[in-house]
Amino acid sequence: MDNRGTFGSRFTATMAMAGSAIGLGNIWRFPYIAGKYGGGAFIIVYLLSAVFICVPIFLSESIIGKSTRLGTFGAMRTLAPGSRWKWLGLITVITPLIILSYYSVVGGWSVEYLFKAVAQAFGTGAAGAAAESVAGAAGAAERAEFASFISSTWKPIIAHSIFLLANALVVLGGVKKGIEKFTKITTPVLFVLIVVIMFYAISLPGAQAGINYLVDADFSKLTAEGVLSAMGQAFFSLSLGVGTILTYASYMRKEDNILATGCFTAGFDLIFAMIAGFAIMPAVFAAGIEPGAGPGLIFETLPYIFTVMGEQSPVLSGCVSILFFLTILFAALTSSISMLEVGVSYLVDEKNWSRGKAILIVCTGCWLLGILCSLSFGPLSGVNIMGNSIFDFCDKLASNFLMVLGSLLFVLFAGWKMKKSILADEIAPDGSSSVKIALFKILYFLIRYVAPLAIIVIFITNLLM
Ligand code: TRP
Repeated sequence: MDNRGTFGSRFTATMAMAGSAIGLGNIWRFPYIAGKYGGGAFIIVYLLSAVFICVPIFLSESIIGKSTRLGTFGAMRTLAPGSRWKWLGLITVITPLIILSYYSVVGGWSVEYLFKAVAQAFGTGAAGAAAESVAGAAGAAERAEFASFISSTWKPIIAHSIFLLANALVVLGGVKKGIEKFTKITTPVLFVLIVVIMFYAISLPGAQAGINYLVDADFSKLTAEGVLSAMGQAFFSLSLGVGTILTYASYMRKEDNILATGCFTAGFDLIFAMIAGFAIMPAVFAAGIEPGAGPGLIFETLPYIFTVMGEQSPVLSGCVSILFFLTILFAALTSSISMLEVGVSYLVDEKNWSRGKAILIVCTGCWLLGILCSLSFGPLSGVNIMGNSIFDFCDKLASNFLMVLGSLLFVLFAGWKMKKSILADEIAPDGSSSVKIALFKILYFLIRYVAPLAIIVIFITNLLM
């Protein structure tokens, strides 16, 4: 089993997990929905869900992996021999590969925009930024440019291929020389980059409005929908329910404390999301644009801001835009390699394949599905699956359905099927203080009752929406 590899320390394991959690969701979703549903009020609900729902799911998932040192399928087979759980476990091997396919398309967009930033090619659209804002159509040229890029056939596919190849190269290095080496550098660098951009953004005139948007607690905006969005966001942001946390935990050293890693990952993920909000929203408000979420925020609104900046100071605009798209690219990469590793570890553990062969097969599958997702913005835009484009269908299937189902599976397995002593061993081993034992009792209650109920509520709302 030693040829599976191990993370060298708790720090590097934590950086890998935090890298997986910190992704596009922190940058393009959190700042917008936090502001929309009451800023500080939303953040309080987010924190409560992180502590009472996500940490228990995180612990269930990671202890299943850590205690067996196997991926989802093998872990469930070992912990519940002869049962059908392992087949359910196999679902969570497939989910991250679906996510990887479309995530890689977006990763490709960030590759293209990084090139653009390096070539200082923002604002080369039809109209100058100043003229656009006078005409009241701020960002129209950037929107047109983005729409024409993603709907073209070849360029986005080439970018998607480059992004996926980068993933393959990192994962090919193995756990220690690939994933660990990469994430222990990129995750801290990612943090530094976003902090630098934040300092720049809050120094802009008019930035205060952006800060207020994010932190002013307005409980009147915190609707039932807001509460559910906060729960869903906490959940998505921590990459739960798809076996990535499980697989990474299976590479941890026995003596490394999983509770500390879980709390740190959840805390770091939230702090990063807040800083991303402070980096983005002040710039959005300073430019006088309505805030929004999703790809538009990153690939339309911000390029417009860079164009406006570039008219005053091309060098500064050039530097900030390069830093920004580098941040997006790293954030996407540290997440996507964790998705790829789930499939690879399954084939290596269960089928005894070499890493190279496993990566080749998994990447080829994701590459092909990714091409379909990419084309669904252009030549295949007419293809419709249950009212969605191919890209949207994959996204909804994975994030609204399979991720939630996977999380439910992990908490039910940990809370009701697995021996309690295995969980206790990780959180409050024999001889622990009474505080730790009490903490374990609370966590066990959350795992058995609170988390499954909350997940079922999220699942049903996702189905209805
Ligand atoms: N947490 C990631 C983000 O915030 C997105 C994500 C969802 C993810 N599921 C995942 C990342 C599974 C890795 C693995 O963007």
